[in-house]
Amino acid sequence: MTAASTDKALALALSMPKAELHVHIEGTLEPALAFALARRNGVQLPYADEAALAAAYDFDSLQSFLDLYYACADVLRTREDFCDLMLAYLARAAADHIVHAEIFFDPQTHTARGIPMGVVIHGLLDGIARGEAAFGISARLILCFLRHLPEDDCLATLAEAEPYLAHIAGFGLDSSEQGNPPARFQRLFERCRALGKPVVAHAGEEGPAAYIIEALDLLGSRRIDHGVRAVEDAALVARLVRERVPLTVCPLSNIRLCVFDQMGQHTLAGLLQAGACVTLNSDDPAYFGGYLNDNIRAVQAAFGFDAATWHTIARNSFEASFVDAATRAAWIARLDAHFAAAQP
Ligand code: ADE
Ligand code: ZN
Repeated sequence: MTAASTDKALALALSMPKAELHVHIEGTLEPALAFALARRNGVQLPYADEAALAAAYDFDSLQSFLDLYYACADVLRTREDFCDLMLAYLARAAADHIVHAEIFFDPQTHTARGIPMGVVIHGLLDGIARGEAAFGISARLILCFLRHLPEDDCLATLAEAEPYLAHIAGFGLDSSEQGNPPARFQRLFERCRALGKPVVAHAGEEGPAAYIIEALDLLGSRRIDHGVRAVEDAALVARLVRERVPLTVCPLSNIRLCVFDQMGQHTLAGLLQAGACVTLNSDDPAYFGGYLNDNIRAVQAAFGFDAATWHTIARNSFEASFVDAATRAAWIARLDAHFAAAQP
């Protein structure tokens, strides 16, 4: 590929319609909004100002990030706070040409601080209603359980969420992966599936490839969040390709949390090459140096993909989404037209 064709492929990728399937709403809390909410709610953040907070974003592991991420979430107190957080993300996502987002939220982070489940969910839904109206973006919520907590705690959270089921597109599993295998949450996920909802799980981010297999076989996970350590098991990669299990890969996150030293070492290119259904996502964009298009820029700088590869990545994002078949087909048609219009 020439430099000109790489640049053209990047321009197409930045402007293509796409879905984001792996973003934590609490991870979109920018330092400026964190301090604005802290002032509004009379909460003292353990940092002097926005610059001091941003300077603390120097992580050496998933856990070092999670400690700060949970501490910052303390500024989120009211329905209006959750609405403002959602609206800010949707504005940013729409600017990156995201047309659909499936957004994780961590209710236990909030209910453990005495914030009612209804305040969290209604606030996020208010933000979605306003964002859909303002930016024409579509968004759904995925309730994530915190895997560092006991399964019984998660089951109680699920019971609390049941009145809001109509507003929940699926269930997920996140937080500290090492030592908290999917196998610990089998009863919980059985219950989620019995409620008729798709389930997903973070697996193979810091944890071993065996956790991906557990997420598939024991939890019934329909997508694997991250999954970048799948490459350590060739039979697993073959299975992911054969069964077309989507991987929601988050490149800048993996660099910032030291899963890989450099983007050039990232396994996403090899997984794509093998035929896996790789999607690109931002995870916690306020903490990891960028939103979805920043991830695309960083990946393009390392791998120089052609336009066809970016087309495939965006098609994967729609194919892996939990929308109905007609909506999916309409988005894929829009995407195909985007690339067709760029043919010489
Ligand atoms: N919660 C927010 N971001 C996460 C990540 N990258 N892995 C696990 N849990 C998370
Ligand atoms: Zn994540």
